[in-house]
Amino acid sequence: MPRFFSQLVFGICVITAVLINTAQAGVSEQRAKELTYLLHQDCGACHGMTLKGGLGPPLLPQNLINMSVADISAVITYGRVGTPMPPWKAILTDNDIHWLSKTLKAESNE
Ligand code: HEC
Repeated sequence: MPRFFSQLVFGICVITAVLINTAQAGVSEQRAKELTYLLHQDCGACHGMTLKGGLGPPLLPQNLINMSVADISAVITYGRVGTPMPPWKAILTDNDIHWLSKTLKAESNE
């Protein structure tokens, strides 16, 4: 019986750890800070520091209403050929790009 109990406790710990990990899937808090900086500095160089547009179009949630998170991720990953929008796949991971896309849509990253 005590053995069963300790196995049960261990099992609950493992499940909890997996659940916490899944809930935070995406990027670490540190990476989120770095990406937020990149969004305003690097993306902001073309899209405006406050993303209201410049050389590139504005990227506020209301401007992206017709684009899904997947659409936005594709543009960030591959860029738009024939326009100044560069591809970011050499610099950012899929996770980073997914996080940025959800952030631009103002969707929770929780
Ligand atoms: C060198 C300038 C430049 C930089 C840097 C840049 N973009 Fe762009 N981006 C553009 C231009 C120009 C367009 C419009 C392309 C077109 O005409 O379809 C665009 C389009 C987009 C679009 C599609 C918007 C729409 O309404 O169709 C998204 C999303 C986007 N950029 C996100 C980003 C993100 C995120 C970053 C930073 C990781 C970034 N861009 C960095 C120039 C840039």
